[in-house]
Amino acid sequence: MKGLILAAGHGTRLRPLTYTRPKPVIRVAGKPIIAYAVENLLEAGIHEIGIVVSPKTEAPVKAALNGEDRAHFSFIRQDDPQGLAHAVKVAREWLGDDPFVMYLGDNLFEKGILEPVRQFQKTRPAAAIALVEVEDPRQFGVAVVEGGRIVRLVEKPKDPPSKLAVAGVYVFGPEIHEVIAELRPSARGEYEITDAIQGLLDGGQTVLGISVQGWWKDTGRPNDLLEANRLLLAGLESGVMGEVTGSEIGNGVRVEAGATVRNARVLGPALIAAGAVVEDAYVGPYTSVGPGAVVRDAEVEDSILEDEALVEGVRLHGSILGIGAKAIRHTARPQTPKLILGDLSTVELP
Ligand code: DAU
Repeated sequence: MKGLILAAGHGTRLRPLTYTRPKPVIRVAGKPIIAYAVENLLEAGIHEIGIVVSPKTEAPVKAALNGEDRAHFSFIRQDDPQGLAHAVKVAREWLGDDPFVMYLGDNLFEKGILEPVRQFQKTRPAAAIALVEVEDPRQFGVAVVEGGRIVRLVEKPKDPPSKLAVAGVYVFGPEIHEVIAELRPSARGEYEITDAIQGLLDGGQTVLGISVQGWWKDTGRPNDLLEANRLLLAGLESGVMGEVTGSEIGNGVRVEAGATVRNARVLGPALIAAGAVVEDAYVGPYTSVGPGAVVRDAEVEDSILEDEALVEGVRLHGSILGIGAKAIRHTARPQTPKLILGDLSTVELP
């Protein structure tokens, strides 16, 4: 079985974070989102992994996976992303007639993807789709299930026929290619995988609906990233490998080798990544301090600081700072802010 990770999207709902980098390479609890997808595929015994990238996402995605030598990666170009089924179409030759797991590169699963893979292998249907019951499924594909089988599927319906959302993992046999070859774009102009699966159903094929165990997160918006960060940090292995002096380190804190914590208070769950410096500061629960990031004379809670970010003289809560982003307050008066902000940036001053 092969794995196909989709990482060619624009990530528009996460701008400005995604102006310079695609969503799957944003770090959550210290690791790029796509690295969790790779982990889960490896855990399911899948080592042959194709990654669908666009001209914009190819280089950063390759960089994020650099050093992962347990898998063999092939990068497949989708020059003009036109939908999830279109991504499968461009990978058609690479996939051959092998069954494959299609994994949306911005989705996170607490317990991995073993169950859909197992169920697919056991009964060999045309497809097995991961499903999660959610309160409001209008922003997802929605499935109607009878006796473990999906009987109907609709994409982002205004009036959902059930509460079962399609989560971002699909196991397919080669039957899906025939349907995709005949597919027409949807009303929003995309080649929808949901329509392709409905095509399998219309052709009388079996599609299993598999309930996801544990939590599942589609990281479409900034709040989803923070929520995923919380969930992942809560499960992180704690331990102090870095240098800690004159500080209080609470339960559930991981200070990686090469990190420095000086005269600070860190309460878990929290991660201080390699090369990070926390000094004269408070780092509160649910915070990821990324590699080389600095928190000095500041307080940060429930936030993601990516590589080389700097927080100085401020108190942050529920914030996301991209690579090299800076949040600084100079304490000397007068307090006239000097702001150099890119398009769509947000700064909230008290
Ligand atoms: O997250 C689950 C949902 O994912 C499902 O419930 C929906 O049925 C499914 O259509 C999909 O909806 P989204 O609107 O969330 O999909 P999005 O456009 O965000 O794309 C998901 C991932 O696939 C993202 O990492 C980008 C990548 N992608 C997307 C498109 C449209 C590609 O690689 N190529 C593409 O052409």
